[in-house]
Amino acid sequence: MSEIRFKSINKLNDSFVLIFGGTKGIGLAVAAAALEHGASVFVTSSQEENVQHAIKELRTTYHSEEFHHRISGASCDLGSSDQLEENLRKLFELASSGSTNQRRLIDHIVFTAGDSLKVVPLSDSTPASILNSGTVRFLAPLIIGKLATKYMRISNRSSITLTSGSMTRRPEHDWTVLAAFASGTEGMRFGLSKDLAPIRVNVVAPGVVQTPLLARLPEQAKEEWRKVLLTGELGWPEDVAEAYVYSMKDRSATGALVDSSDGRIFN
Ligand SMILES: NC(=O)c1ccc[n+]([C@@H]2O[C@H](COP(=O)([O-])OP(=O)(O)OC[C@H]3O[C@@H](n4cnc5c(N)ncnc54)[C@H](OP(=O)(O)O)[C@@H]3O)[C@@H](O)[C@H]2O)c1
Repeated sequence: MSEIRFKSINKLNDSFVLIFGGTKGIGLAVAAAALEHGASVFVTSSQEENVQHAIKELRTTYHSEEFHHRISGASCDLGSSDQLEENLRKLFELASSGSTNQRRLIDHIVFTAGDSLKVVPLSDSTPASILNSGTVRFLAPLIIGKLATKYMRISNRSSITLTSGSMTRRPEHDWTVLAAFASGTEGMRFGLSKDLAPIRVNVVAPGVVQTPLLARLPEQAKEEWRKVLLTGELGWPEDVAEAYVYSMKDRSATGALVDSSDGRIFN
């Protein structure tokens, strides 16, 4: 009897996934999910120490040679608009250089990088502080869009998945600036999916997810959020990671907004 060929679970097999923000929280959970689907992952964030920690954590969880050679990473700071393009160019060169002389094309880019949340009332904001708070989450994805095609496989099998949040449709007080940039990310998916086609571009909108980012917020705020979530529970990174896996796997999904927010947007 011939071997059964699985159509769904092997879609990411042998693919190469570059994950910005892949060292913690949602991005680290996407790295784990991609590995389980047979992909190789390259995780990156601003701190080399966090990159090495994430690589070690993934290699401990997936403690076999079969996984180890599929896990790599390097640091790349996305927080300075002056250095952004140069830092990204270097990172793309490094990630795609591979272990041999052969160039390794990137199949999927996942972008979950985000610096600490600066929740500043609009009355205290300045043009400079506003622009500064959009560097990582808004400016970096655009420059990635500019540079990525040189390093990616040009195919509808390839994808870029960005991150926004439920705050675009259900903002909290004083989240105007953060929500505006996240709305910009949601908006750029249409232009990028046209400009980069056939590479697909989607956005995932998480709700309130239990990650290191959230750990820095007051317990009371988390309790208030919990009350409005229809699932009765704050989200888990490994669940939200499924939305990114979907975006990578559905070759018809482009320009899509994938919601994974526990019903927060309409309750
Ligand atoms: N958690 C939630 O409830 C939630 C809800 C909606 C949307 N989101 C959004 O989803 C994204 C991921 O959230 P998360 O909860 O997974 O956050 P997280 O746990 O804090 O992880 C953020 C990642 O971004 C990296 N990063 C921070 N500053 C960076 C910089 N300057 N350059 C490059 N990488 C940088 C961090 O590593 P380093 O510190 O090493 O740089 C880390 O890997 C964020 O944009 C967040 O705003 C989160």
